Amino acid sequence: YDYDLLVVGSANADLVIGVERRPGAGETVLGSDLVTHPGGKGANQAVAAARLGARTALLARVGDDAHGRLLLDSQRAAGVDTVGVLVGGAPTGVALITVDPSGDNSIVVSPGANGRLTPEDVAAAGSLFHASRVVSAQLEIPLETVEEVVRSLAPDSRFVLNPSPPRRLPAEVLAACDPLIVNEHEAKVILGEGAAGVSDEPADWARLLLAKGPRSVVITLGAEGSLVASGEGVTRIAAVAVDAVDTTGAGDAFTAALAWRLGAGASLEEAAAYASRVGAAAVTRRGAQDSFPTAEEVGAL
Ligand code: RIB
Ligand code: NA
Repeated sequence: YDYDLLVVGSANADLVIGVERRPGAGETVLGSDLVTHPGGKGANQAVAAARLGARTALLARVGDDAHGRLLLDSQRAAGVDTVGVLVGGAPTGVALITVDPSGDNSIVVSPGANGRLTPEDVAAAGSLFHASRVVSAQLEIPLETVEEVVRSLAPDSRFVLNPSPPRRLPAEVLAACDPLIVNEHEAKVILGEGAAGVSDEPADWARLLLAKGPRSVVITLGAEGSLVASGEGVTRIAAVAVDAVDTTGAGDAFTAALAWRLGAGASLEEAAAYASRVGAAAVTRRGAQDSFPTAEEVGAL
């Protein structure tokens, strides 16, 4: 394989304002100066993996504009192969983000060019799929495009999906996931009616999700760590305690790190424990891609 990880997904310019608290409907609040960071769940995953040392490629679409150039620069600076980054068709995706004093964020995404990443674009990138040990995706691109990703996987490659923002998934996509990585909110949406009347126990959620077809499941629980589940059972992975400054993109860094370690032969438990440290490092700094650690920094944690 030429690539440890191929990420198929979104690239957004993150327009970030710090706020004391979020405004309610009809309310105006004053916030900090505006900062523009490179972001998007796909672009974030690619940078996170490359910074850790993974040979990484990104399949995405950006606009022919300043935001698109910001994103391409960030990918290249991290060492991501951008041969699969298509340019044009719509303006680059934008995420409007507020970050509060506890480091939590709220995000509204305007997909722009991400919405024009088509199944045909995926089909045309067959050589990237054949060269990649692990392929990961998220849901800021059209669902038909993710379906084509699943159909394009090389026979021995592994597929990792973070269904964010969440929606119900076709059985064919669920069956390919190894693992499906969700937080509690995403788990509820994926389970749909199946979530009604279920206990608050994440282990029960994990078993129900597994019954929907993925080969394995990871549920991220924020400060509570995470839970990994497969045919071999359910295991709790401890969180790494840090002072959160900005959680934006930490989930993307977690997913990328997990995908990379799995491709390198780690068990699901080992990969999730490593990914927790990567995610923890990412919340201690501002921004998404700008906050992702090198392998050396993870080792020092
Ligand atoms: O997961 C964080 C990302 O979500 C941000 O970078 C933003 O672009 C949105 O895609
Ligand atoms: Na961060």
